[in-house]
Amino acid sequence: MFKIAIVSAAGGVGRSTLTASLATLLAQRGISVLALDFDPENLLSTLLGSDEVSLGGLLPDFLTRKAFGMSALVNSNEVACLPFGRSNEASLVTFEQHLRTEPEWLKKCIAQIDYPPGAFLLMDTPRLPSIYARQAMVAADLVLAVLAPDVRSLALLPAVEVALSRCAPGHQPIYVMNGLDSTRALQSDLLAQLRSSLQLRLSPHPIHRDEAIPRAVANQANLQSLSPDSLVAHDLNGLLSWLLAGPASSHDGRTYI
Ligand SMILES: Nc1ncnc2c1ncn2[C@@H]1O[C@H](COP(=O)(O)OP(=O)(O)O)[C@@H](O)[C@H]1O
Ligand SMILES: [Mg+2]
Repeated sequence: MFKIAIVSAAGGVGRSTLTASLATLLAQRGISVLALDFDPENLLSTLLGSDEVSLGGLLPDFLTRKAFGMSALVNSNEVACLPFGRSNEASLVTFEQHLRTEPEWLKKCIAQIDYPPGAFLLMDTPRLPSIYARQAMVAADLVLAVLAPDVRSLALLPAVEVALSRCAPGHQPIYVMNGLDSTRALQSDLLAQLRSSLQLRLSPHPIHRDEAIPRAVANQANLQSLSPDSLVAHDLNGLLSWLLAGPASSHDGRTYI
């Protein structure tokens, strides 16, 4: 199983949106995928089409000593999703205490999941710094950091690098810009600046700002079927193909292009 942690140092930049979209696209290409919500916000299953916010999930399973992965759901697009589940302040304190004492808890739990060869695991996380993001980065084969087209994301770039080097020395994240409005010169300049500093570590497929995304969420619909010809559907396909051909190509000896 190839494991990707989706992280960012700034909030609201599209981590969950990208996790859900990439998971749906992987399933559409016939690749087994599990989307794991490691964010107490617990919204990933909703983005993947659930009618209601999940009560069950990995946190309630942990608290009741059930096996990890028991509460995974499969949606109509063949995407398996393990929600975080409902939490409260006390349950989060208990869980976070456990995560602090066992930095490899998530990694070990994932190792027990029986998934077909060639499958993908996408882990959604809260923004850095976060004990959840840290566990996901420890477990991941690849860290995909999401950047917004603003100076804040640029200024927070070192925070992502430092966070990853602390839990996985020698590893470097790869980056994707989300929410680009190419008609705005400042954003295009910023993208060019990032390209020259990050080079091959920045996806050549920025994801444009597109109303098709919130519209799909509001309609609980799959973006690819609701707006297959939208710019953003094209961008997301480009990003996935780039990942499968490059950063995520070398696992289980499989080729995806
Ligand atoms: N490319 C995009 N175009 C338009 N809206 C977007 C795009 N990406 C994300 N959004 C919207 O931005 C908001 C934050 O996205 P979300 O994925 O929840 O961010 P995060 O998980 O990083 O907090 C959501 O309302 C989402 O629909
Ligand atoms: Mg999120």
